[in-house]
Amino acid sequence: MFDFHLSAADKPDLYRQLIEAADAVTAGEPDPIANMANLSALLFEALPDLNWAGFYRNAGGELVLGPFQGKAACIRIPFGKGVCGTAAASREVQLVEDVHAFPGHIACDAASRSELVVPIVHDGELIGVLDLDSPLPARFDSEDAAFCAELIQRLSGRLSTVAVVPAAR
Ligand code: SME
Repeated sequence: MFDFHLSAADKPDLYRQLIEAADAVTAGEPDPIANMANLSALLFEALPDLNWAGFYRNAGGELVLGPFQGKAACIRIPFGKGVCGTAAASREVQLVEDVHAFPGHIACDAASRSELVVPIVHDGELIGVLDLDSPLPARFDSEDAAFCAELIQRLSGRLSTVAVVPAAR
C-alpha cells in the first residue's frame, strides 16, 4: 500500500523525504497506534544503522511500550529512569553518544551503543516518546535530533490518544 523509496546524498535531503513520507502515511488517520506503527516501520527502513525504532506511550505517568521495529523490548519504564524516562520527565530531547556512559541506561538490546529519544507533546500533554537506537557509537548528531524533533512536532496531533474515532468511510 505504501512503498516509499527514500534515498538521499545528504542528511537534510533524506529527512525532508522522510518527513514528507511520514506526513503522507499518517494523513487522515486518527488512530495513534496505527500511526505509531507505520512511523516506526518508516523510520526503521529509512534511517541507516538502526537496531530499534519505536514508541513508548505515557500511560498514567509511566511509559509503556508501543509500536516498534527491532528486538522485543522492556515494557514499562518509570518517568525519570533510563534515557526514555529522562526524556519523558524533562520533556527534552536526549541525544546519547554512548549509552554505557548514561547513568541508568536500560539495556533492552545489548547491541545498542547510541540512542536518540524525542518527547512527544501535544496540547501541553506528554503523549510519549520516540526512541531510536543504533549499534554504532555516536550514530546520532544534533542534526538528527533537530529533524526528528521537527517530524514529531509536525505529527504530534496524529499520535495523541485524545480523539480516537473510526476513520471516515
Ligand atoms: N534504552 C532505553 C530503553 C528502551 S530500549 O532502548 C528500546 C532507555 O534507557 O530508556
